[in-house]
Order: sequence, then structure tokens, then C-alpha cells
Amino acid sequence: MSGVRVCSVSEVRVDQALRVMVDGTAVAVVKDSAGEIHALGDTCTHGDISLAEGFVEDDTLECWAHGSRFELKSGRPLSLPAYEPVPVFDVTVVDDDVYVDPVPKRVDA
Ligand code: FES
Repeated sequence: MSGVRVCSVSEVRVDQALRVMVDGTAVAVVKDSAGEIHALGDTCTHGDISLAEGFVEDDTLECWAHGSRFELKSGRPLSLPAYEPVPVFDVTVVDDDVYVDPVPKRVDA
């Protein structure tokens, strides 16, 4: 199994991100409206704010501080003031366990 076990599937709620640590990096684990689980870097690229404390809306995670919305699949900000993407990580689900690859995946521009 590649990746680090971070939580169980049942711990990830649709409307609230879960902050976990993956090899020393804070990661926000989010379930989208279709039930797919995503993992993004937890720290907003605009400030030192935990995105897991923000709001899951449609397929985005919104920073509570100034409202930038990051796309779950790509980590790209869809609105200012953040303009740099957060990293995204591969997620594997095996039975009830969620694994996150500690190496960020490449997202094509
Ligand atoms: S700290 Fe996240 S948008 Fe400003």
C-alpha cells in the first residue's frame, strides 16, 4: 500500500474538512458531493490559515479568512486573494481506511 493511513472513511464528513498530518505536512481531507475523497495542502497560500477550518462548498474548499476558494481536484484558487495553488495528494481508499501519498501530485496547468 502506497501512502500513509490518515483516517477512516467514516471520519470524513461531506461538509467539513478533516485536518491530518502526513509525514509532517498538514493536509486537509475532504469528501466532495459525489463522495470522492480529496487531499489538499492544509495551509492557505495567502496566509497561515488552516483550510480545514474553512468551508466545503460544491467541489471547493474555501478559506475562512479572506474567502479564496480552492478547487478540490487541482488545488487551484478560483478566487482572489490567493493566487498560488495548494498542493494536492493522491488518495487511496481500502475498505474503511484512507491513505494519502505524501508526495504531491503533478497537476497540469
Ligand atoms: S489567508 Fe486564506 S484567503 Fe487570506
